[in-house]
Amino acid sequence: MVSGNDPAADMTGLHRSAVEAAVAAGARRILYTSQQGAVPGNPYPPSDIHLATEAALRDSGVAWTALRNAAYGPLDQILGPWRRTGEIAQPADGPVPYTDRAEVAEATAVILAGDRAFDGPVALTAPTAVTLGDLAEVASGLTGRTIKRVVLDDEQWVADHIATGVPEQAARFMLTWYQAGRAGYFAEADPLLARLLGREPRSAADRLAADIAA
Ligand SMILES: NC(=O)c1ccc[n+]([C@@H]2O[C@H](COP(=O)([O-])OP(=O)(O)OC[C@H]3O[C@@H](n4cnc5c(N)ncnc54)[C@H](OP(=O)(O)O)[C@@H]3O)[C@@H](O)[C@H]2O)c1
Repeated sequence: MVSGNDPAADMTGLHRSAVEAAVAAGARRILYTSQQGAVPGNPYPPSDIHLATEAALRDSGVAWTALRNAAYGPLDQILGPWRRTGEIAQPADGPVPYTDRAEVAEATAVILAGDRAFDGPVALTAPTAVTLGDLAEVASGLTGRTIKRVVLDDEQWVADHIATGVPEQAARFMLTWYQAGRAGYFAEADPLLARLLGREPRSAADRLAADIAA
């Protein structure tokens, strides 16, 4: 069950309906794409949806696995136009084990096809959590340029996004992701992904190097 991400929809209600439909159809185990750091108090709103869905899975009476996936979006989405500007200019962040999307998919396939049952939440993350400051240093080393980490004021960052046409609500939603990161909600790395892949997962530095070489 792939979680939805429509900010205008009742995602928890839709997820509950999907769980009920799966149970009614005779499913014996449900795998759900949850999110790393889905714990009470996390200010990033999808966390509460994932937590409520995990509760529905717990109550469903069938076996379930919640894949608490770490952030697996493209790095450029996180870093912004640093190649052009020489700066990673974002709000204050915290350590995050930025993870390769294809490796999350591969590990999910291993879980789906394997004999071992994973019960409850499992975290799929790259082996090391890094900050944007760390990635500025990596980018500097890879390019031979000085890539600066510039910490933008939250409200300035929101205003800049609105000025480029991003709706305020969407900008404020994304800001909560940085706020969760700097509060440490995404800091934990987990060795399970490496075990499932049978190799060391790609680090953010590996991916940055590949992006630069491409
Ligand atoms: N991105 C992350 O770093 C991350 C990390 C942890 C958790 N999550 C959560 O994981 C979920 C997926 O995120 P994502 O970023 O991977 O999204 P995504 O790239 O938009 O992928 C969503 C997938 O679900 C499919 N899909 C959407 N609606 C569907 C429907 N009604 N029936 C069948 N398939 C449908 C889409 O198919 P099409 O391509 O055909 O539209 C697409 O393959 C979200 O709930 C997100 O909050 C994401």
